[in-house]
Amino acid sequence: MSLYSTNGRYLKIMAIIKKHFFAQLDETIATLKTEGVEVIRLDIGSPDLPPHPSVIETLARASARGDSHGYQSHLGPLSYREAWTGMYKRVFNVDLDPATEIVPLLGTKEGIYHLSQAVIKASNVVLIPNPYYPTYLRGTELAGGTPYFMPLLAENGYLPNLDAIPAEIADKAKLIWVNYPNNPLGATAPLSFYEKLVRFAKKYNILICSDIPYAQVYFGEDAPPSIMQVEGAKDVAIEFNSLSKSHNMAGWRIGAAVGNSAVLNTLLKLKTNADSGHFGPILEAASHAMGLESSWIQERNDIYSERRDIIIESLRSLGVDVASPQASLYIWCPIPEGWTSEKFALAMLKEAGVSVAPGTVFGSKGEGFVRISITQPKEIIAEAMDKLSKWWKTL
Ligand SMILES: Cc1ncc(COP(=O)(O)O)c(C=O)c1O
Repeated sequence: MSLYSTNGRYLKIMAIIKKHFFAQLDETIATLKTEGVEVIRLDIGSPDLPPHPSVIETLARASARGDSHGYQSHLGPLSYREAWTGMYKRVFNVDLDPATEIVPLLGTKEGIYHLSQAVIKASNVVLIPNPYYPTYLRGTELAGGTPYFMPLLAENGYLPNLDAIPAEIADKAKLIWVNYPNNPLGATAPLSFYEKLVRFAKKYNILICSDIPYAQVYFGEDAPPSIMQVEGAKDVAIEFNSLSKSHNMAGWRIGAAVGNSAVLNTLLKLKTNADSGHFGPILEAASHAMGLESSWIQERNDIYSERRDIIIESLRSLGVDVASPQASLYIWCPIPEGWTSEKFALAMLKEAGVSVAPGTVFGSKGEGFVRISITQPKEIIAEAMDKLSKWWKTL
């Protein structure tokens, strides 16, 4: 108590911070279940499909070894970091040094949070897109930084307008978050945006944090790029990535931060005080997963694209003007006039038995939208859209 009472800022922040939306939603849905309401969940972005069978076999084999149950080093074995460098080379044609340019993470969320604690000081401004993945903001708030929101608007292709950031804000900014393919918008960024961003970051001495867990979940011909493809990006950028979405391994909590070695060292220093690394067999199985043929990822993306089309078609037949995303696990769906996104999502949950995420979970620019996830089999998605359509027509 004495420690906290000398730190009023911390107490104040903990008083205003709420439980993460999905933790709260689990409780609401559990209560509805006890009242006999069956709910189809299209809210969270947790892949329903399993990893490749050989990944699970690798995990089982490694777990059966008596010597695989102790603590691991925070850097994991070299083979795990080499699996990342191999995947970056194959997918993005980027060279990374496994000795200095990869730090294993317990999922990108953990890295996003801890990076914020490691580098943000109380006087720092942090540039955050709006809508945003909530941990960019929570990590900033808990580190005592000041968020400056960059609206992501349709007229700018859902990219932040760097020219609109006032110079006095950019001067005070310590880091900038970007996330493409984007959650919740489903938008992608061209390499030219990353080139401009690297120039901007060099001019103002800002650390770029690029968050790309959806980079391998896409439906068109063009694979989304990595900022590491830009020459000189490593001078000013790190990138967060994981196997949660790309390899259907969300519950495994397995990822990495790559790029600028000095920043990664700072993150690693903090992590050695906060966690004790991964379960060794998970590192082995994840390394195997990263070496899988890209045809496996392609087939999985084809399944997602079929599901996406079912949702888009039924929304459009309701007259909803909705864009079909080219990447990510989400459809960003406009809602009728006269509703807040929170009230709309709650009414849909209680009256139609379909759970979606209110847009405002992702910030003020999410008002007027709900986010629909494609992480259910197509038969269940079709059933949910049937329920949702019947309910929508009664509004
Ligand atoms: C944009 C974004 N970043 C990070 C995460 C965290 O993913 P993980 O910690 O599973 O890698 C998510 C999860 O939904 C996300 O949407």
